[in-house]
Amino acid sequence: MNKYKFIDNQGTFLLENPEINSYMYFPIANECGVMSSLTPTLNGDCKMSQNTFLLAPVSAEELHNNKSSRNFWIYIEGYGAWSITGASGKQKYEVFDKNKENTKLEAGIMWHKITRESQNIGIKSEVTSFVPSNNKKVELMKVTITNISNEGKKITPTAAIPFYARSADNVRDHKHVTSLLHRIETTDYGVIVNPTLTFDERGHKKNTIVYGIVSAEDDGKKPIGFCPLVEDYIGEGGSFEAPETIIINKKFDVKSNEKFEGYEAIGAIRFNDIIIEPGQSKTYIAAMAFGESKRDIESISNDVLKETDFDSSLEETKLYWNNKINISYKTKDSEFDNWMYWVNFQPMLRRIYGCSFLPHHDYGKGGRGWRDLWQDCLALLAMDPENVRQMLLDNFGGIRFDGTNATIIGNKQGEFIADRNNITRVWMDHGAWPFLTTKLYIEQSGDIEFLLEKQLYFKDLQVIRGEEKDNLWNLEQGNNQLTEDGETYEGNILEHLLIQHLTAFYDVGEHNVLRLHGADWNDALDMASERGESVAFSALYAENLEDIAELLKVIKDKMNIKNIQLAEEIQILLNVNTVEYNSVDKKLKVLKKYCEKCKHSITGKVIEIDCDTLIEDIKGKAKWLKEHIRKNEWISNEEEFSWFNGYYDNNGRRVEGGTGNETRMMLTGQVFTIMSNTANEEQVRSIIKACDNYLYDESVGGYKLNTDFNEVKTDLGRMFGFAYGHKENGAVFSHMAIMYANALYKRGFVEEGFKVIDSLYSHCNKFEISRIYPGVPEYINSRGRGMYHYLTGSASWLILTVLTEMFGVKGDMGDLKLEPKLLLKQFDENYKAAINMTFAERRFHIEYINEASKEFNEYSIKEIYLDNNKYNSENYSVIYKKDIILLDEGKTHNIKVILE
Ligand code: G1P
Repeated sequence: MNKYKFIDNQGTFLLENPEINSYMYFPIANECGVMSSLTPTLNGDCKMSQNTFLLAPVSAEELHNNKSSRNFWIYIEGYGAWSITGASGKQKYEVFDKNKENTKLEAGIMWHKITRESQNIGIKSEVTSFVPSNNKKVELMKVTITNISNEGKKITPTAAIPFYARSADNVRDHKHVTSLLHRIETTDYGVIVNPTLTFDERGHKKNTIVYGIVSAEDDGKKPIGFCPLVEDYIGEGGSFEAPETIIINKKFDVKSNEKFEGYEAIGAIRFNDIIIEPGQSKTYIAAMAFGESKRDIESISNDVLKETDFDSSLEETKLYWNNKINISYKTKDSEFDNWMYWVNFQPMLRRIYGCSFLPHHDYGKGGRGWRDLWQDCLALLAMDPENVRQMLLDNFGGIRFDGTNATIIGNKQGEFIADRNNITRVWMDHGAWPFLTTKLYIEQSGDIEFLLEKQLYFKDLQVIRGEEKDNLWNLEQGNNQLTEDGETYEGNILEHLLIQHLTAFYDVGEHNVLRLHGADWNDALDMASERGESVAFSALYAENLEDIAELLKVIKDKMNIKNIQLAEEIQILLNVNTVEYNSVDKKLKVLKKYCEKCKHSITGKVIEIDCDTLIEDIKGKAKWLKEHIRKNEWISNEEEFSWFNGYYDNNGRRVEGGTGNETRMMLTGQVFTIMSNTANEEQVRSIIKACDNYLYDESVGGYKLNTDFNEVKTDLGRMFGFAYGHKENGAVFSHMAIMYANALYKRGFVEEGFKVIDSLYSHCNKFEISRIYPGVPEYINSRGRGMYHYLTGSASWLILTVLTEMFGVKGDMGDLKLEPKLLLKQFDENYKAAINMTFAERRFHIEYINEASKEFNEYSIKEIYLDNNKYNSENYSVIYKKDIILLDEGKTHNIKVILE
């Protein structure tokens, strides 16, 4: 079977013949903006932004269709031309041959090495690719050619990497005229392209980017000639997979410091002929670089083109990323542990590539969305909590005074941008995520004071929760909410959270659950903005309200604060008689009154509200909402399955229900009613049965997002236009599946929660079906292929679930609480399961020892040892913050948890 094998415990794997799988790509990137993707034949692209592609942009289909890939050719005397990447017409044709060249991929976090061996020719090659973790804007490639025959071979080596050197917007539009902008020059080591202007959606601008492709022999020795124009390189009738200059081994006449203008360019770089004796090797280094001047590219050439520099930079890079991934696991299944290593890394990839810069991308030209922003913080809290406080605080600056939020997020932390296109779209779930992340932060750190920190509010044209425009506002007034006196207004974080949740509470549709607006978590439920409602997220808002009340209690008791300061307008949303909650009209009136009051400016006056009164008010709202859902949305069908209806469509009709093949069921409504404790235990059991019956399909990795509605349901969303089993229409969508697992674990349904994660992991790990490298993809399609690999918010949720639920390592107002929910089968042959992680800036190795071989639910914590000393606490499952902060920050501390 063709499957990858892990060779260490840091995710490094081997895969034989990787190129006989389609659509596979691997990320290599750094934090100064270089983002590359690599296929097994070194196709893929390399760019720094939507407008700065060095190699031609590729989507999934171009991975097999594009010929402009990284290449390195050798012309072997007596044989002819051979591509060491396999990107020649002949080698591609031979992929289906039984006797095809042997290839092998070895890869780890941010590095990729492909070996190719032709017994027939007697040559072996190895190409290692990576992007250095330091601040160099460059992708590097080391090529080693070995003679595996019995006689010396004379070869002519040529690096050949075609430039694209422009904006992705020009893939078709302005494609040719942008080549007329090219100013091409050869240097000592290669070719640079410095376009005069850029033509893209930003208008015609003077270009400031210089692209370079340079190469040298292992000791830094320079090339001997160049062929920088594509049409000269391929020759009349040639192509990148059969270039004339290579096939007939034509001399490259161009020397360094020659200039050309107005043509497509290629870094075609020729080296001296050499004779490689049997068993001997020869190495070359190539670099694809971004700079602001010719000098930048020259200085990069001097820094990176020696083999010794390449090797040390590669080691540095490996170390850099492995240090960043500071969570690791040890369970019985070492493949799961290694797979999770990649999952741990995925949120870092998402922060670098956004959602748009790997070959599977459905939207976007970079940038991140509101949901991603808060989700990324979840993973950060688990891995790199140091700067999270400020990040959270800054992100709160994106909330509007009507409880909605900015949706265009700037490049700088805390930068939010008004939508110039004036598109109004309100995602009704957006208000719920900041609280989840904030709660996790407070639980881990005990930093309850955070809720009283002050922050600005975002202001733009959109008012009344996306329903109207504020014609009094213009850009000159800036993007901050002002008071009537023109002062910027700052409110505490608690106030921000309250505004998000209280406005949502009143923003209901005709069934008295929260309006769907532009969509909820499911971006493709986007055609029911008038009458659509999301029961699913109503449940989450209800739970959040309850949890906010709990935190308020902590503020009151621990900080001894009796009154909370809030903007006076918020009173409108409080003090409403609970009886009125039953009336949609009354609710909408309250909301309207509040939104009108803060439509343009607010008074800036602050009132003091008694904590207890506030707690009672919001608890009342939470209770009402949960009861309302329990009473009205629990549905059963003729097959005697029961679950929660999650939605109403744009005709005001209930979406879920039906029976047999006609059953319409969605996972989202189940996840949030379970997670929010809206579903009682009995209901959770029923939901699990219904999910197992209607949504579970082992062959695609577990729980699908919905059943087949067999209708292009234009009164709910574009998802129903997608074929069933794909993306948001009924695929196993990792993010929702993992949130389902999280909810089940939280409610103590551990076996069931494990099944969700295990089905998904096991499927991904079946490489011959999923055909993705290790990690969790956004979704699994109807044929079982992993799609949109790497860049998915599900990774953050998976890390969180494995850490805080499966291993049960949680924060409890700053204390470290241990509440393992590991199944007996997860303990290794020594009855152990362990996790390495960071908490309160200390490194811990936490080991659970289950010598009695007990199942979850049967075991409990007998004793805890901290650095080999018995830890005495009246509560066996907690290590107190006061003790943790006494521990040395520089070393790893052992916590041994003995189960009985
Ligand atoms: C993607 C989006 C996410 C959205 C989801 C469902 O999921 O990034 O914001 O909620 O689709 O429409 P992801 O790729 O993060 O798993």
